[in-house]
Amino acid sequence: MGASYVVDVIAGDGIGKEVAPAAMRCIDAVARDEGFTIRWRERDWSSERYLADGRMMPEDGLEQLADGDAIFLGAVGTPEVPDHVTLWGLLIPIRRAFLQYINLRPVRLLPGIVSPLRDAQSLDVVLVRENVEGEYSEIGGRAYRGLPQEMATQQALFTRAGVERTARYAAELAQTRSGSLVSATKSNGIIHSMPFWDEVVSETVARYPGLRLESVLIDALAARAVLKPGTLDVVVASNLFGDILSDLVAALAGSIGVAPSANLNPSREHPSMFEPVHGSAPDIAGRGIANPVGQMWAGAMMLDHLGEAKAGRRLTAAFESALADGVRTRDLGGTATTADFTDAVLNRLRRA
Ligand code: NAI
Ligand code: MG
Repeated sequence: MGASYVVDVIAGDGIGKEVAPAAMRCIDAVARDEGFTIRWRERDWSSERYLADGRMMPEDGLEQLADGDAIFLGAVGTPEVPDHVTLWGLLIPIRRAFLQYINLRPVRLLPGIVSPLRDAQSLDVVLVRENVEGEYSEIGGRAYRGLPQEMATQQALFTRAGVERTARYAAELAQTRSGSLVSATKSNGIIHSMPFWDEVVSETVARYPGLRLESVLIDALAARAVLKPGTLDVVVASNLFGDILSDLVAALAGSIGVAPSANLNPSREHPSMFEPVHGSAPDIAGRGIANPVGQMWAGAMMLDHLGEAKAGRRLTAAFESALADGVRTRDLGGTATTADFTDAVLNRLRRA
């Protein structure tokens, strides 16, 4: 009897409900072959639920997830509910309660995908984004609502412990890759938190001999990602900078539909969460044409995290092979439906 893992699935809204089941079929297939099982606990936590009873998840939702091995998320968001409600009602509480302080986003050009870049072959980047503090803090407020002197403040929060553990994760990752680490900063314009970020990152990375650390201003880094993507390998960034940069770099890889992300609790005291970078895509939801690659790649990262690295590699190889053979959804210029693409991946898993 092989291992068994408990995974909570929150398919969510829109195309989340289409791509999550597609990826689950492929994960089950590879698990069967590799001799382990995934026990899926499906949760209907979503905007639909919010519209029905005023909550994105049950009051004890976080407790329900706490004993699972991982969380597999589709996407949440719908035009009928403000985005800050869906985000702060589900995703952000999960990331914070389970100390998922690393958001990991690998980006490279997959076979058969056309990038908007001329020099895209060299694109192979892993973004390490700080995921629980920084610019996305709950500190701040609004005053004088409706009056001419109306105001809002939003306080960024950087802690030594928070920056240090992020830098440590990035440094350890860089050691397994090319040894080069780029840190996104803005210490020229943001004069307190960003020099602090730079100091803590550089002190931390100095403990890893042989690593090359470069601090690059976020605006210049955005330009460099477009002009010379091959000069970037592991990039570490604060919550806001990492958020923006990761969508930029994901777009360079051809489609937001293929980009995965992992919200990691590296100490493994709590479950980590795996999701595609894209949202619920209300413009194409319900038509069965969403690209499931981002969700499948997130699934492969989850398998790797669970200790089933071989299964993760096999799943990745299967969707890459389908893409290389020209099976493509509409966002990639093809005609395949979500189901067609999923069948192509399942066929390759069977053959392998
Ligand atoms: P989006 O990622 O949902 O869609 C942007 C564009 O990319 C759309 O034209 C969409 O059709 C296309 N697209 C996205 N994923 C695709 C896929 N797998 N296959 C084919 N095409 C795909 O971003 P948008 O439109 O800004 O947000 C829609 C909703 O999703 C909002 O409510 C937003 O808050 C939410 N959202 C949720 C996220 C999450 O759950 N982690 C992340 C980003 C947005
Ligand atoms: Mg984003």
